[in-house]
Amino acid sequence: MIEKIKNKDAVIGIVGLGYVGLPMAYTCTSAGYKVFGFDVSDEKIKMLEDKKSYINDISDDQIVEMYDNQFNATSDFKLINEIDIVVICVPTPLNQYKEPEMDYIISATNSIASNLSHGTLVILESTTYPGTTEEVVKPIIDEKNLTIGQDYFLAYSPERVDPGNEKFNTSNTPKVVGGCTNDCNNFASEFYKNILSSDVHLVSSPGVAEMEKLLENTFRHINIGLANEMAIICEKLNLNVWEVINAAATKPYGFMPFYPGPGLGGHCIPIDPWYLSWKIKEQNYITKLIGTSSEINDQMPEYIIDRLFSVLNKFKKSINGSNIVVFGLAYKKNISDYRESPAVVIIKRLQELGANVTIVDPHVAQINSPYEVVEKIEMDSLNNYDLSLILTDHKEFDFECIVEKSVYTFDTRNTLNRHSNNDYEVL
Ligand SMILES: NC(=O)c1ccc[n+]([C@@H]2O[C@H](COP(=O)([O-])OP(=O)(O)OC[C@H]3O[C@@H](n4cnc5c(N)ncnc54)[C@H](O)[C@@H]3O)[C@@H](O)[C@H]2O)c1
Repeated sequence: MIEKIKNKDAVIGIVGLGYVGLPMAYTCTSAGYKVFGFDVSDEKIKMLEDKKSYINDISDDQIVEMYDNQFNATSDFKLINEIDIVVICVPTPLNQYKEPEMDYIISATNSIASNLSHGTLVILESTTYPGTTEEVVKPIIDEKNLTIGQDYFLAYSPERVDPGNEKFNTSNTPKVVGGCTNDCNNFASEFYKNILSSDVHLVSSPGVAEMEKLLENTFRHINIGLANEMAIICEKLNLNVWEVINAAATKPYGFMPFYPGPGLGGHCIPIDPWYLSWKIKEQNYITKLIGTSSEINDQMPEYIIDRLFSVLNKFKKSINGSNIVVFGLAYKKNISDYRESPAVVIIKRLQELGANVTIVDPHVAQINSPYEVVEKIEMDSLNNYDLSLILTDHKEFDFECIVEKSVYTFDTRNTLNRHSNNDYEVL
């Protein structure tokens, strides 16, 4: 395996070609490996065959480049038997009871196990609770009468990709790896060393690697919860929370700034900590900080609506019947991902309350979504709206102009970074 990896003879299979899997496939083809991308979505396979990308971080040109570099997208899992290293990047959502939805990992592992050739290395990258690799994935493969360390190798390595991040991508972000045996560790770390420009950090087991990923995202979840609570407190004390955070951030040690916003979004931060809460209930332990920060973060969209009542009230207006233009549907800047986006919750509530909402989002407008989204709006038309509401700080938006041309603006992202302002309102 080590020789095959070093000589670029190893054939790589990426199972799940989404926000994580597609950049991973690009990284592997760029490093000189032959790559098969597997997905159950015929629509995605068709788009890739037509050399079209469906995520921001990979362009159409990069898809062409991938095909030029020995890439193939397929839904035929029999081709797994041609693969030396399989990387699983399938979704890990929650069900309606905030419990892990493991069906994707189970079904992907079943497809892999049924077609595995001798000596294949399987790596799980999906974010999940500690124990998944050894308690869920391994037993499915073992059932095929295959022995770990002889017939196949298994490791966990969390994906840390941060969509829209212009500095860090799959290739230059350090990678943590935890294998089930020494060979699993060696093969998996050799693989990543050959495709990434960053360091590989080996840990003693898949469980440590699974857990450290949940620590990373729980850390963000709780600190964003703290920033959001600070925003609520500061508003009651008539202080500008952004000025407070920026002042605290001048401390060169012991403080790391996190910022408030209209709520948590995306496929990771609102979801991953619940994997941990669920798992540890098995040991009769109830997580406390995760529940508390979720409560704060989950109430932010409703808090924004409360603030909008007050903002419109200043102009003797109600939400009912108001024309509101919303800037941004995606959960964070410069991407098109609107999954779990607080903007979706806020817009739905505004519509329920009788507002006429126009949504502007240059990123979401470019993809298929169930929302009526315009790519841009004439700045001179903003005075036809009662309010401009900034929910996502996409780089395409001219915030100075929005504030200047709007009747009034409520900015949940402090886009102009001003500490005192009378002509618009900041979260
Ligand atoms: N999106 C992120 O920023 C990010 C960052 C780090 C980690 N993660 C984690 O990575 C994992 C994947 O997330 P994502 O955002 O790429 O999800 P995604 O929904 O964008 O992509 C997952 C892909 O897997 C495919 N799929 C589902 N079941 C399959 C199966 N049985 N076989 C083959 N393909 C299958 C889907 O069709 C989809 O294309 C999740 O565990 C997520 O928590 C995501």
